[in-house]
Amino acid sequence: MASYKMSIIWVCSAVLLSGLVLTQDQAHWSTSEISHSCNWTCMLFTLQWPGSFCLIIDNKNICRIPQNIQEWTIHGLWPVKDHNCCPCWPIFHSHLQELEPELSQLWPSLIKTRSNFTFWKEEWFKHGTCAGCVENMGSPFLYFKTVLKLRQLFDVDNALANAGIKPSCNVSYKYDELHGALDPLLGDNFVLQCVKDDKEREAWVQLKIYVSKNVTLGCQMAEELESSRVTNTSYGHPCPTNTTIFYFPINHEHPKQPCT
Ligand SMILES: *[C@@H]1O[C@H](CO)[C@@H](O)[C@H](O)[C@H]1NC(C)=O
Ligand SMILES: *[C@@H]1O[C@H](CO)[C@@H](O)[C@H](O)[C@H]1NC(C)=O
Ligand SMILES: *[C@@H]1O[C@H](CO)[C@@H](O)[C@H](O)[C@H]1NC(C)=O
Ligand SMILES: *[C@@H]1O[C@H](CO)[C@@H](O)[C@H](O)[C@H]1NC(C)=O
Ligand SMILES: *[C@@H]1O[C@H](CO)[C@@H](O)[C@H](O)[C@H]1NC(C)=O
Ligand SMILES: *[C@@H]1O[C@H](CO)[C@@H](O)[C@H](O)[C@H]1NC(C)=O
Repeated sequence: MASYKMSIIWVCSAVLLSGLVLTQDQAHWSTSEISHSCNWTCMLFTLQWPGSFCLIIDNKNICRIPQNIQEWTIHGLWPVKDHNCCPCWPIFHSHLQELEPELSQLWPSLIKTRSNFTFWKEEWFKHGTCAGCVENMGSPFLYFKTVLKLRQLFDVDNALANAGIKPSCNVSYKYDELHGALDPLLGDNFVLQCVKDDKEREAWVQLKIYVSKNVTLGCQMAEELESSRVTNTSYGHPCPTNTTIFYFPINHEHPKQPCT
């Protein structure tokens, strides 16, 4: 194990060093290689709601919600303001063998053309390699294990049910009702993200939970998190506070039209 870790460190440093050596003629490559210093302090633990996930996917036929998926699923655990930290840190399917049953259930790919492992691999390279500078996320296995632990800790399905928030096509909710339902579990450490359906209705699609570098709920660095409160992304926009919001049921047959 120790020698394995050493070899990872060695491979990474080798890439960093060659990045430095190549600076003169390949600056565009090397600067992205050497700018990572584990200086982030906050993470976003992002969950997605399968009921409206397919609304954000342009291609009509590419989405699929497997029958066994009935709850909020994981999108990822993302250090804020850093990504793609180390292309030299490989992940293999066998790394996740032990976790795979749980990962498939809680962190499935909802895109037909992307396997579950491909999704995990993409998340590892984009975000995990940055989180990997912290001890309890310091390998692909540890990173994914930590994410699964967070998912269990933040049982949002249960919190919503307790507050009487049920997926529905014909009932919508006030922002404050949705936010209030999660307050007991998450305090004020989260953002709701919405997407508009083809009838211009706001549908709740994601939940971004603030987590500190030591993987506890909440993060003090307000400025790092600010953009997550306001910025539109390809996965939607912050849910508006002045209009009602739909929490669509999961429609396995017609994932792209949950309510038509
Ligand atoms: C970390 O350092 C990089 C490069 O020095 C900088 O671009 C980035 O903004 C820093 N991130 C934080 C969260 O301070
Ligand atoms: C991917 O995850 C889904 C949802 O849990 C599951 O139904 C499917 O069998 C998994 N795919 C593979 C290839 O394991
Ligand atoms: C509301 O939708 C649910 C399914 O989401 C349905 O069972 C129920 O009959 C609907 N109620 C009304 C009043 O349309
Ligand atoms: C985790 O980090 C936060 C913010 O830096 C700190 O307030 C908290 O005490 C830490 N918790 C543990 C268990 O180390
Ligand atoms: C985000 O999107 C909403 C509508 O979807 C739009 O009204 C708003 O101006 C956008 N905000 C930014 C900062 O782009
Ligand atoms: C809600 O507020 C936003 C800007 O804060 C505005 O663009 C939008 O039209 C408002 N929507 C309603 C339904 O009042």
